[in-house]
Amino acid sequence: MLLARTAYLNSIRERLVDYPIVALPGPRQVGKTTIARLYAESLGSEPVHRFDLESPSDLARLTNPELALSPLRGLVILDEIQRMPELFPVLRVLADRPDTPARFLILGSASLELVKGASESLAGRLSFVDVTGFTLEETGGEHLYKLWGRGGFPRAYLARNDRAARQWQEDFFRTFLEQDIPQLGIRIPASTLRRFWTMLAHYHGQVWNASELARALGSSEPAARRYLDILSGTYMVRQLPPWFENLKKRQVKAPKIYIRDSGVCHALLGLENQAALEAHPKLGASWEGFALEQILAVTGDSNAYFWATHSGAELDLLVFHQGKRLGFVFKYTEKPSTTKSMQVALADLGLDHLHVVYPGTHRIPLTESITASPLLDVLDSLAHG
Ligand SMILES: Nc1ncnc2c1ncn2[C@@H]1O[C@H](COP(=O)(O)OP(=O)(O)O)[C@@H](O)[C@H]1O
Ligand SMILES: [Mg+2]
Repeated sequence: MLLARTAYLNSIRERLVDYPIVALPGPRQVGKTTIARLYAESLGSEPVHRFDLESPSDLARLTNPELALSPLRGLVILDEIQRMPELFPVLRVLADRPDTPARFLILGSASLELVKGASESLAGRLSFVDVTGFTLEETGGEHLYKLWGRGGFPRAYLARNDRAARQWQEDFFRTFLEQDIPQLGIRIPASTLRRFWTMLAHYHGQVWNASELARALGSSEPAARRYLDILSGTYMVRQLPPWFENLKKRQVKAPKIYIRDSGVCHALLGLENQAALEAHPKLGASWEGFALEQILAVTGDSNAYFWATHSGAELDLLVFHQGKRLGFVFKYTEKPSTTKSMQVALADLGLDHLHVVYPGTHRIPLTESITASPLLDVLDSLAHG
């Protein structure tokens, strides 16, 4: 079964009108190559040239990249571009040619090189379309529990059953730690990073505390910080930054940490199925992380924060979207209600609206500015205004 990923194809099509280069960053195995292929197939007669920088023969074709790339017309796909950062200055020259004889789709699995190198060399010439796992809009709301449980990596979501999904995740961890990480030139024993990653899953949805994690891991704080940055730079972990309002209140200053894919989080926690999740203390945090990623897949994550004061008021997610300040609190409950903390966040942050995102199917107004909203409902209204 192949999911069409139409929203991605449309975004790519739109961006390539305005930019000579579109980048598709995203984790390994999330479906970047497939999206590029589907896009190329949708082009009809326009010529398409594809280079996979993990293939030795394709690399050989790029020994002299400027010579190889400049005669090409149409669409040029450069897959796993983090393998050849020296291409960025070449792309800059090619992007600046008059009449843009070719457009480039560049794919990468590590922001360490991709986003940094690309943003520096290609400023103003490229646009990013972040690729995430399958979204609830793509699977349909009726598959919410399957998507939440298994996560959005295509091979996990589409696996024959939960066990097969879990087996795929285990193999994915192994390849990621033993091959992908060393290929980025990072030398950390696979077992150390795996242990750190597992520990992070137990802190999923909590404020980052370097000293506590370093102690638990038996390492230094800078080492813990570095592991965190590696897992963030490969799209496995999200660091949600704190928001500060100009208030006479002490506010939390460290980021909040999430395992981005819910299925990966469940695998790291050793949760076999929905029943195990329902009985686990991380149930609420898992719902929070899942719903948060779904929302950020629609709004983008460049204007997203959490907010918390030392006196206990907090907001799980603050997003500046289409000129509005929107607040989100995630509650895994059938009967959401308002709390003091929500009222404080609403007033202190001047929110236009606060959604209590819950797993129900009906929108329930709680006050004039607070609504208990089903996740799919929130996603629809964010996407369509
Ligand atoms: N839209 C999709 N529908 C079904 N399976 C998919 C889809 N996208 C990716 N896959 C499967 O997931 C795996 C990883 O996809 P791939 O495109 O190679 O990811 P990436 O390039 O991000 O590493 C492949 O086995 C692929 O067949
Ligand atoms: Mg690929």
